[in-house]
Amino acid sequence: ELHQREYLCNGEMKKWDGPITEVYSPVLIPTAEGLKRKLIGTYPIGTEQEANEALEAALQAYDHGRGEWPTMSIADRIKCMERFVYKMSEQRDLVINLIMWEIGKSLADSTKEFDRTVEYITATIDALKDIDRQSSRFEIAEGVVAQIRRSPLGVVLCMGPFNYPLNETFTTLIPAILMGNTLLFKPPKHGTLLHYPLLKAFQESFPKGVVNTVYGRGANVTPGLMKTGKIDVLAFIGSSKVANDLKKSHPKINRLRAVLSLDAKNAAIITKNADLKLAVSECMLGALSFNGQRCTAIKIIFVHKDVADEFNKLLGEAIAKMTPGLPWTKGVNLTPVTEPGKPAYLAECIEDAKAHGATVINENGGANAESFVFPAVVYPVNEKMKLYREEQFGPVIPVIPFESIEEPITYQIDSPHGMQVSIFSNDPHEIASLIDPFVNLVSRVNINAQCQRGPDVFPFTGRKDSAEGTLSVADALRAFSIRSLVTTKM
Ligand code: G3H
Repeated sequence: ELHQREYLCNGEMKKWDGPITEVYSPVLIPTAEGLKRKLIGTYPIGTEQEANEALEAALQAYDHGRGEWPTMSIADRIKCMERFVYKMSEQRDLVINLIMWEIGKSLADSTKEFDRTVEYITATIDALKDIDRQSSRFEIAEGVVAQIRRSPLGVVLCMGPFNYPLNETFTTLIPAILMGNTLLFKPPKHGTLLHYPLLKAFQESFPKGVVNTVYGRGANVTPGLMKTGKIDVLAFIGSSKVANDLKKSHPKINRLRAVLSLDAKNAAIITKNADLKLAVSECMLGALSFNGQRCTAIKIIFVHKDVADEFNKLLGEAIAKMTPGLPWTKGVNLTPVTEPGKPAYLAECIEDAKAHGATVINENGGANAESFVFPAVVYPVNEKMKLYREEQFGPVIPVIPFESIEEPITYQIDSPHGMQVSIFSNDPHEIASLIDPFVNLVSRVNINAQCQRGPDVFPFTGRKDSAEGTLSVADALRAFSIRSLVTTKM
């Protein structure tokens, strides 16, 4: 068990003796009363007071852009970040272990999450070196020389999601730091403890006040921080409702920059010309990796009615071969779902679909025991069902048969989301005819492949309620900075 009694503020690891919250793993252990979520640790429930201390520290460190960090050369900031990566890597095994216990991610995926994050930081450092090289002097008009820089924005409130508590949190936190901003960092509710071993690395790598932690119930502390009007950037990955509420709490919303990655309902479209085996293996990965708890997961499948039976049969067979088990067991690809309320919510979605005429077409589909849910393929889904529009964020796959391609296009047009789509077809003319309609409705079209964020150098964004701003290696550096000029009259 890990009991965190410290928080990082103004360069100090401060002792905490206030209220704490208990962390229960989605991994179940046998007890006298049956299987139960295991207590794995505790951490502080911070109050507005510590949140304000953190804000004060970040404001002082930024000092209206005059602080040590925002004025430090890019080369020196990079040295600090390289020190951080070194120290972070020393905690690799512990952090991977905590990812498995805290959110139930498999060993393979938890390891990938850690290593991908280190690679992401290294690639971001390289991209920053490019930006630095481009900041050379050049003449913009007769008699005037200008230097174009990338300058920081100020104080960032950074909040990541539970499904990639390390990796996605760091896709905003790292570029925000590198560009010279100072930060308030609130780790996700499920995925707080795994950041504890990294706090010392932050403390020892950056000047005081650059990174300050905020704990506590989000609803109690974050709106208060926004209300001060002193947050310059909201970096948030999670639900659009929370993001909108936070933005609205800011008294000068037009001065706030928001970098957001939010809700999605990514569709896969299987035309009658698709390679069904390929479509099934990609859709299975796309819909069920980490139990479907990914913003980029395939969350609804449109299949042409002529191939629907065959597709459903193959999908059911593929799911039957999946290996459920504990996160650290080799070869496991179905693990417990993270959020305690999720199994009941998914069961409710399935019941609602049944009440409106669908069935679960695969054996054991939807069977659940405490935190474990066996994947369900629900067919045929229609617009009356919750599963038609709601983002289930779990291992339930709604499938809709279609006759005309206009049906999935209309679905996408009417959708409040616009992240990604996957199109499966072996007909190049058909593929070509579908790219334009979809690429102007979502932010990434995947041909004969699942939806996903990587490779991380690609821009990552979305339309409508799915995102604001663009993340990735170079795009994120731009998102957390502004182009500024120093001009000299010759
Ligand atoms: O949950 C949202 C993540 O951005 C998904 O990333 O596609 O690499 O799993 P991924």
